[in-house]
Amino acid sequence: MQNIFIFDTTLRDGEQSPGVSLNVKEKIAIAKQLARLGVDCIEAGFPIASQGDFEAVRAVSQSVEGPIIAALARAGETDIKRAWEAVKGAQKPRIHTFIATSPIHMKHKLKKSPEEVLKSAVNAVMYARSLTEDVEFSAEDAFRSDISFLCEVFEAVIAAGAKTINIPDTVGYATPWEFGEFIKTIREKVPNINQAVVSVHCHNDLGLAVANSLAAVINGATQGEVTVNGIGERAGNASLEELVMALYTRRNYLKADTRINKEEIYRTSKLVSSLTGMVIQPNKAIVGKNAFLHESGIHQDGVLKERETYEIMNPAMIGITGNNIFLGKHSGRHAFKMHLKGLGYDLEGEELDKVFRSFKELCDNKKEVSDEDIIALIDTEALKGPEKYQFSYLTVSTGTNITATATIGVTIDGVLHEKAAVARGPIDATFAAINSVADQEFKLEEFKINAVTSGRDALGEVVVKVSYRGRTFTGRGVSVNILESSARAYLNAINRALNVTNKVQSTNNIAEGM
Ligand code: KIV
Ligand code: ZN
Repeated sequence: MQNIFIFDTTLRDGEQSPGVSLNVKEKIAIAKQLARLGVDCIEAGFPIASQGDFEAVRAVSQSVEGPIIAALARAGETDIKRAWEAVKGAQKPRIHTFIATSPIHMKHKLKKSPEEVLKSAVNAVMYARSLTEDVEFSAEDAFRSDISFLCEVFEAVIAAGAKTINIPDTVGYATPWEFGEFIKTIREKVPNINQAVVSVHCHNDLGLAVANSLAAVINGATQGEVTVNGIGERAGNASLEELVMALYTRRNYLKADTRINKEEIYRTSKLVSSLTGMVIQPNKAIVGKNAFLHESGIHQDGVLKERETYEIMNPAMIGITGNNIFLGKHSGRHAFKMHLKGLGYDLEGEELDKVFRSFKELCDNKKEVSDEDIIALIDTEALKGPEKYQFSYLTVSTGTNITATATIGVTIDGVLHEKAAVARGPIDATFAAINSVADQEFKLEEFKINAVTSGRDALGEVVVKVSYRGRTFTGRGVSVNILESSARAYLNAINRALNVTNKVQSTNNIAEGM
């Protein structure tokens, strides 16, 4: 059985999904969960891209143990140096350097000849190897490259010291038959290929990313680059949970498997969905709400008689247990902390206090508080970045034939600011009141609401996307009152927008000062 390395790029390629911007705490929470999941490598970010990315990669490198931590860098000394600065504190650091090799990218994007690209690739790998042992090289847009040139590049970078060569289908153009053949040819034509791990990185533009990755595995690839829930640029990347479960479920046919702790899959998927605000479609394989539901009578009857009649995987194996332990208002802080630990969250001090306070408030409003409620509270409360605008109160008057009026109280630097606004609907009025407190042009682009659990007293989780100065920011809020969840989500998006734009401002100042 071949062990396939799982290289997770949720925090780098996944974070490139439109509207997703994670703060450092959120990235650390995801990285820690990826470590519990047992991925072999976490690509934590692209440090040259921004000061925020640099800090996040450094923080993940310093606080996450177990997997290799990789940082991405273009094939140039400045990028590679920055990547190394960010990742060097990791237990097992890796520099991942890349350059495009397809005619279309070399001509139009890089404006370089193939000879220049080959030279840059080799120089980049040599420079990275002068800093660390573990260097991965990617040929961007490999699948649309001339295969002879690609093989020449791979042979040269392996000779220069690359330990992993990665073959991306950057634009998701391949079909499984072609991609499998492509990997086989590279393995046959590159004489020193056995000195490197062969990796693949498939995008999902035609919905074939996982199929292409499997075709590559059958043809000798031993590392798959994936993201949780398949998030990423455009249609996203190969999905971690689909690749892992396909390998496991069909291991006898594929002769390959991974070392992933499968019972952590569901929790990881939920965490990533909640923190990125990228909702999982109900029919998504493995982790969608309907993935293990049986609607038709014939199927239900079959499953009741023998689960395997209609189920090829056991939901318990990916961590869907259906067991919900309920905590109540009499649960103490210590029991609460221990319970969180069991859920995979190790909170202390101020963070624990914040979540415990929200938990107690929730107990006053909701009969039974489940694990899902607690996780929703942690994801929205404990992982928040610094908040300039803090929710204090909201009053809304609304009805069928009257204009809605909202009055919001927002604390800014310890001072309460209150504003009222009218609009046709209560949420519109709430957001208008917040805009008038902020006195800046924030625009709502998307609004989603979801009940965290079943029952009339369920927590309502709101996810909004708000645009500000040409960028989109995601915000989340939870409460048993959905108008309050909406206000909290909107304020959360505003705070993220301000944190990111202030950081960009200070990065520009740093750059100007150099
Ligand atoms: O899709 C791609 O080609 C990439 C590389 C940087 C690995 O993300
Ligand atoms: Zn990619």
